[in-house]
Amino acid sequence: MASVTSLSDSVHQRLAAALSAALPQAGSADPLLRRSDRADFQANGILALAKKEKANPRELATRVVAQVESGELLRDIEVSGPGFLNITVSDRAITENLSARYADDTGRLGVPPAEHPGTTVIDYAQPNVAKEMHVGHLRSAVIGDAVVQLLEFTGENVVRRHHIGDWGTQFGMLIQYLDEHPHELDHDSAEVSGEEAMSNLDRLYKASRKLFDSDEEFKTRARRRVVDLQAGDEKTLAMWQKFVDESKIYFFSVFEKLDMEIHDADIVGESGYNDMLAETCRLLEESGVAVRSEGALCVFFDDIKGPDGKPVPLIVQKSDGGYGYAATDLSAIRDRVFNLKADSLIYVVDARQSLHFKMVFETARKAGWLNDDVKAYQLAFGTVLGKDGKPFKTREGETVRLVDLLDEAIDRASAVVREKAQDLSEEEIAERGAQVGVGAVKYADLSTSANRDYKFDLDQMVSLNGDTSVYLQYAYARIQSILRKAGEVRPAAHPELELHAAERALGLHLDAFAETVTEAAREYAPHKMTAYLYQLASLYTTFYDKCPVIKPQPPQDIAENRLFLCDITARTLHRGMSLLGIRTPERL
Ligand code: ARG
Repeated sequence: MASVTSLSDSVHQRLAAALSAALPQAGSADPLLRRSDRADFQANGILALAKKEKANPRELATRVVAQVESGELLRDIEVSGPGFLNITVSDRAITENLSARYADDTGRLGVPPAEHPGTTVIDYAQPNVAKEMHVGHLRSAVIGDAVVQLLEFTGENVVRRHHIGDWGTQFGMLIQYLDEHPHELDHDSAEVSGEEAMSNLDRLYKASRKLFDSDEEFKTRARRRVVDLQAGDEKTLAMWQKFVDESKIYFFSVFEKLDMEIHDADIVGESGYNDMLAETCRLLEESGVAVRSEGALCVFFDDIKGPDGKPVPLIVQKSDGGYGYAATDLSAIRDRVFNLKADSLIYVVDARQSLHFKMVFETARKAGWLNDDVKAYQLAFGTVLGKDGKPFKTREGETVRLVDLLDEAIDRASAVVREKAQDLSEEEIAERGAQVGVGAVKYADLSTSANRDYKFDLDQMVSLNGDTSVYLQYAYARIQSILRKAGEVRPAAHPELELHAAERALGLHLDAFAETVTEAAREYAPHKMTAYLYQLASLYTTFYDKCPVIKPQPPQDIAENRLFLCDITARTLHRGMSLLGIRTPERL
């Protein structure tokens, strides 16, 4: 028997259930149902089942066809080839399913919340104090934010952690330098904007780094400062706090420009784990996971060796007693697992830190902090490249400042908006320009799978044609304009109407939204959502070409049904884009 239809089942899922029920070994066999060009769907699972049962696949397929409970779902089902099934669903099934999604007053378009949500702690958007944010920080923020939205939409309990770099040797260096050159940061910080303060700090950072690398005595004094800082020396701490506060003002201004909500309470930087470091080391040493080697506390791994064949250890505590990046990350794992009760940890961090995370996770597993029920995953992202295919740099060879890049994207987008603008005021052009520009940067970042490098090409990003957010935003705005023009005629679903092929294709794709959300969330793969949305806009374009909505005016019921398809397409675009952190302006 086909399972009972609920709002959350797509046509695809209903069909899979009906087929499973018709298979003699119900439940144990996957019908392997896929969308197909020949019919709506093709089921390939009978071949494998026949092999297992030592049966003739075509005979088995014929039996399934005879047994399948068709109800109102199927229009046509036939055996083809060695034992495939080609299946066409009824127009009614498509329209009714969409109508149920449309009627979902939670605004979720019929996407069911997860039955057993877990707790995920996601580590993303983690810039460094006293340093400019660069394109790498953009990727972490953009990908992380999309994964947060996707997971939360499925009902997962998500805890955000912005593990900012606010601790360690560089602060000893910075504080010591400022102490010795008190006039280099001569400004009244209250009067300096986030951005300006940051470039002052950045300059200071570079100067202190230069001295640190060239002057052994300064190096020693700077190291002593780190010890003072970690021991909580008052004056040192006060100077440190100033760096942190000024940097945060700057971070927030960038996140705002990125149209991204970041909460102060979720910023728990490296310094937040200071009190746990000694205990982390003690636990690792006592359990034998870490051992002393030349004075340092190290964890060794069978499969991690340097070019010389010698094992490369993870250093948890240096021989001078200092703690580094690894000790902090191991302490953060303890906090996230035991205090925040996470069962999944995600780290949205540059692929170049993969070895670090491999060692940290393995250490945590050896210590029993991670296991089969509590897992950690680095959502590693690739490098942002310039048009020339080399890591993205300014013409002077410096890393590109994130703010400059966003400003340029907004400028370009504003030009595009202005060119097309018909009835927009200057103010509206500026607002839309920001939404289109920032959306374009985010979309480009999200639309290739995270682990791949991608080329930062603004011309391509703000192009109206092709796989860009601008294309999707225009599709959305165009639909809104159609809905406004429709005037008296209201969108309504008429399940008794026969559908055009373009309507069927659009409808079946719309119906697959829930599965896309689930898959993109489960796999931490926002690019699956961008691909879905791009295809949605393309199918919509074909539909709009083939099926007149307003002009020439079709009969009332057809017009209503088509407006309904327009409206649910717009709602799906809007929902999908907002899960990626991208705006869909009503007018463009
Ligand atoms: N602040 C680091 C950077 O800019 C990223 C931090 C990643 N998170 C972590 N838990 N280690 O590269």
